[in-house]
Amino acid sequence: MTAYSHEKSRALFERAAKVIPCGIYGHFSPAPLIPPSDYPFYAESGAGSRFVDVDGNSFIDYMCAYGPMVLGYAHKKVDAAAAKEHKKGSCLSAPAPVMVELAEYLVDLVFGMDWAFFAKNGNDVTTYAVMVARAATGRKKVVAIKGGYHGVAPWTQGLGHHGVLEEDCGHILRIAWNDFDAFASLVEKHPGQIAAFIASPYHHPVYADNQYPAPGYWQKVQKLCNQKGIVLIVDDIRCGFRLNMAGSHVFFGFEPDLVCFCKAIANGYPISALMGKGALLTDAAKVFYTGSYWFSSAPMAAALATLAELKRINGPELMLAFGEKLCKGLAETAKSHGYDLKVSGAPSMPYLRITDDPSQMLHQKWCGLCTSMGAYFTSHHNWFVSTAHNETDLTDTLKIADRAFEMLKKEKR
Ligand SMILES: Cc1ncc(COP(=O)(O)O)c(C=O)c1O
Repeated sequence: MTAYSHEKSRALFERAAKVIPCGIYGHFSPAPLIPPSDYPFYAESGAGSRFVDVDGNSFIDYMCAYGPMVLGYAHKKVDAAAAKEHKKGSCLSAPAPVMVELAEYLVDLVFGMDWAFFAKNGNDVTTYAVMVARAATGRKKVVAIKGGYHGVAPWTQGLGHHGVLEEDCGHILRIAWNDFDAFASLVEKHPGQIAAFIASPYHHPVYADNQYPAPGYWQKVQKLCNQKGIVLIVDDIRCGFRLNMAGSHVFFGFEPDLVCFCKAIANGYPISALMGKGALLTDAAKVFYTGSYWFSSAPMAAALATLAELKRINGPELMLAFGEKLCKGLAETAKSHGYDLKVSGAPSMPYLRITDDPSQMLHQKWCGLCTSMGAYFTSHHNWFVSTAHNETDLTDTLKIADRAFEMLKKEKR
């Protein structure tokens, strides 16, 4: 196994740095890819579970475009459905019938939800959800989780980030994940002032172990929200359709008022959705919210095809089975070299970390080595598997991981 080289990636980045802020910004920024010399910066193509970078290196992809890829890149059924719709005209002066079909499909699919609203990105719908909650309750405050990510709008980035004002997030109250008592105290401290509680179905921060809800946590949160007229928003943007086709709230056994979807909904085509209970339909309708491309019909056709295929093959079960084998295999490989690899979160979107490595330098080194030999691992973020990952991928990945641990040991790390 020889390490990949990245001449073309680097040359593109140098050009980009002169004409694009950051060169590559946001979640694709190379900043957390450590050491950067092990990572490609630009991709050329993707097929199934793998992508090829601009230097011709092939990677088994465990980031899946940070979540949108769920059935495999260049999926024939999804691409055909999108292309058929696109040919008719995807951006016309009125919505296409597929918008109604998709809303009806989602209302049938997702448990407890009566309507669907479409936008492009996750941030669009988390922000809309907060606006709907405020419109419905006439209240200002929103309770969120420390380390929880809901997009790039100033209210969710928080104070301390460039360009964010105190006023933008003055009514956002952050508490620790799984701390029901902290939520109850805020409700008591701000009577009749809390519009919404927003959180992902389980806690998946960066650079830290992911955490499932404690037994009874969601049920207690739901009960208090219902008692106090607080809108319960689930940000299912990362987990949605990966844990359960009916929504991750079904996986964890509770009933929210609003659910935000994006990422896996259309296998990479740009679309997000806010779904809600019937009681919030009129308030949702009152909030003015739109975007130039939000009615594009090709991504809607792609979403219908993606969801139908995920349902047909029982995607969440397939991903769980592969994820379990992957995590078990990696942990055993680590152990055979004397390392302890801790896995947290759902096995189909696991966060891994080498323990006894508080600076995370060892883990970064190992992820970088694996990437430089063809298994694309990041060290700061949870990974994703797709339904396209197969036994060959697993065998190849475990061989690469084995070699990388061997190299770590040789370096006496
Ligand atoms: C849980 C969660 N919420 C919201 C978002 C924001 O989505 P987007 O980047 O599409 O705006 C993300 C993106 O990673 C996410 O993981």
